[in-house]
Amino acid sequence: MAEKWVLMVTAQTPTNIAVIKYWGKRDENLILPINDSISVTLDPQHLCTTTSVAVSPAFTHDRMWLNGKEISLSGGRYQNCLRELRARASDVEDEEKGIKIAKKDWEKLHVHIASYNNFPTAAGLASSAAGFACLVFSLAKLMNVKEDHSKLSAIARQGSGSACRSLYGGFVKWIMGKEENGSDSIAVQLADEKHWGDLVIIIAVVSSRQKETSSTSGMRETVETSMLIEHRAKEVVPRRIIQMEEAIKDHDFPSFSRLACSDSNQFHAVCLDTSPPIFYMNDTSHRIISCIEKWNRFEGTPQVAYTFDAGPNAVLIAHNRNAAKLLLQRLLFYFPPQSDTDLSRYSLPSHVDFYCWK
Ligand code: ADP
Ligand code: DP6
Ligand code: CO
Repeated sequence: MAEKWVLMVTAQTPTNIAVIKYWGKRDENLILPINDSISVTLDPQHLCTTTSVAVSPAFTHDRMWLNGKEISLSGGRYQNCLRELRARASDVEDEEKGIKIAKKDWEKLHVHIASYNNFPTAAGLASSAAGFACLVFSLAKLMNVKEDHSKLSAIARQGSGSACRSLYGGFVKWIMGKEENGSDSIAVQLADEKHWGDLVIIIAVVSSRQKETSSTSGMRETVETSMLIEHRAKEVVPRRIIQMEEAIKDHDFPSFSRLACSDSNQFHAVCLDTSPPIFYMNDTSHRIISCIEKWNRFEGTPQVAYTFDAGPNAVLIAHNRNAAKLLLQRLLFYFPPQSDTDLSRYSLPSHVDFYCWK
C-alpha cells in the first residue's frame, strides 16, 4: 500500500422529528428503547448534517471534528458504531488513484471524520439523529459495507436512538424490538416523502443555546425516577402508535394533530415528573402552544400540529400551504422578529426565528 493516499466520502443526512416520542431505554449500551416511536424526516435541504469521512495509511488514530472543533471519539457510542462498521467492511478498490484496501486492512486503518450541522447542535432539534445517521451512512460507503438501510439503522441506533429513523425519508417507525442483542430494534419506512405532500413544516427556533440536560441523561433520570413513564410506555404509546399509523395512512390530519400534540405534551409531562424535574420548554414555547391550541379550537378543525423535542424549539406541522401561510402571519404578529442579527437576541423570550420549507 502506498502511504500518501487519502480516500474520502461525503454524505448529507436530514434530521427527523418524532410525532410519537422515544423517551427511555431498556438497554443503555445497545440503545434499546422502552417504546416504539414514529417520526417525520425533514427535507434534506433545510436541517441537515454534512459529514466527510476519510481514510489514509498516514492517519495514526481515529479523529473527529464537529462543527470545526475536535471532539473525543472515546465515548462508547462512537466506538460501538466504528466497531460494527469495521466488522462489516469489504474490499475497496479505486483504480484511478491506484488504491486497494483489503477487508482485513480496515482493522488497522484509521479514519478522520469532519461533520457540520447547519442548524443548532444539542438544542432539541435532533442533531444527534442527523449526526449519527450521517456518520454511519458515510462510513458505510467509505468502507464498502454491503448492508441494507435496515441493518444500517440498527448501527446508527447505537450512536443515538433517534438516528436510526434518519436513514429513511418520509414517515418512519422505530420498532423497539424484543431481542436482547437489539437485532430487531430497527427503523422501517411507513410512507415515503411524497405520501402526504400537502403538509408544511415550520420550525420556530426559540433558542439555539445548548440544552442543560442532554436527551441521554434526561431520559435516564426519567426512567429512574418517574412514576408516569411506565404507564406512558406500556399503556399510552402502544395505542397511539396504532392510531398514528392509521392517521398517516389515511391522511387524517385531525387525528394526526391530536396525537402529535398530546404525545409531545405527555413527553414534557414525564420530564416534569422526573426528579429533579426537567424543563425543556420555556415561556415562549408555552405561548406558542396556547396560540396554536386557540387557533385550532377557533377553526373547529385542527390546522396545525405542534411538537417539541428535548428543547424549547417548536416544530409546527401545518395541514397545507394555506394553513402554513396563516400560521406564519400569526407567528410573525405575536413574535415579531428583530432587525438586528446579534445572536444574543435568541435569549429574548419574545423572539422566535423561523426555518420554513416547502
Ligand atoms: P439533540 O436534541 O440536538 O439531538 P442530544 O442531547 O440528543 O441533542 O445530542 C447532542 C449530541 O449529539 C452532541 O453533543 C454530540 O455528541 C452529538 N452530535 C450532534 N451532532 C453530531 C454530528 N453531526 N455528528 C456526530 N455526533 C453529533
Ligand atoms: C425527545 O435519540 O437524542 O428527541 O438515544 O440517548 O442519543 P439518545 O437520545 P436521542 O433522544 C431523542 C428524544 C426525543 C424524542 C425522539 O426523537 O423520539
Ligand atoms: Co438527540
